[in-house]
Amino acid sequence: MKIYLDTGNIEEIKHAAETGLLNGVTTNPSLIAKEGRPFKEIIKDIAKMLSKHTKDFTVSAETTSTDWEGMVKEGLAYAKYDKHVIVKVPLTPNGLIACQKLAKKRIRCNVTLCFSPNQALMAAKAGAYIISPFVGRIDDHGGHGMDLIEEIRTIYDNYEFKTNILVASVRSPDQVRDAALIGADIATIPYKIFQKMFYHPLTDKGNAQFLADHAKYQAALAKK
Ligand code: G3P
Repeated sequence: MKIYLDTGNIEEIKHAAETGLLNGVTTNPSLIAKEGRPFKEIIKDIAKMLSKHTKDFTVSAETTSTDWEGMVKEGLAYAKYDKHVIVKVPLTPNGLIACQKLAKKRIRCNVTLCFSPNQALMAAKAGAYIISPFVGRIDDHGGHGMDLIEEIRTIYDNYEFKTNILVASVRSPDQVRDAALIGADIATIPYKIFQKMFYHPLTDKGNAQFLADHAKYQAALAKK
C-alpha cells in the first residue's frame, strides 16, 4: 500500500520524505490556504522535495472551478507544473466530465469528496486514476468509513476497474491498518499520524533494555 502525506506543508513533507517511505502528497484548497503562499509555488516545491528521495511519486493538486471547462483549464495548467502532478476534481457531474476530458489528454485525475459506493463506481467509469473516499468525515457523521472502502474494493475487483482506492480523511493509525487489511491502494495521512505509525511502547522499552544491557556488558569487558 502506498503512503501519501495529506498536507501542503513543505517541512512536514521534508521530514516524512527523508524516511524513504513516502510515495506522494495530497493537497486540497483548505490545506493550501494554511500555507499562505501561492498555489503554484507550493505544488512545485512539493514535487521538488519528493523528487530528492524518489522518482515514483505523485502530487495531487485540486481544482477550484465549478464548471468542467474551468476544471479542465486548471488541470491542463497544473499538469505543466510537474509531470508527477495529479489533478484533483470533485465528485460532481462536472468533476467527472472534467476527469474524462483530462484522461483523454493522458492527464491523471484524483476524484475527491467520495462518500458512497455509487459515486466511486461513476468515478471509475469516468476513468479516474484515483478515487478518494473520506473515511474520517463519514465516521464524524456517525457512519462507518471503512465499510465504504470494503464496498469500493469489491466493486472495483468485480469489474477489474484500475482506479486506485485512496483512503482519505484519516484520523488514526488504526484506519491505516484497516485500509491495508481491506486492500486499499493508497492511504493519505496527516504528518502526526505518519509519525505515530512507527511507534509502539514495547519497541521503545525493548530498545532501551537492549542498549542498557549492551552498555553494561561493554563496561564489564573493559574492566577485565
Ligand atoms: O485531503 C482530503 C482529506 O484527506 C481531508 O481530510 O481531515 O479534512 O476530513 P479531513
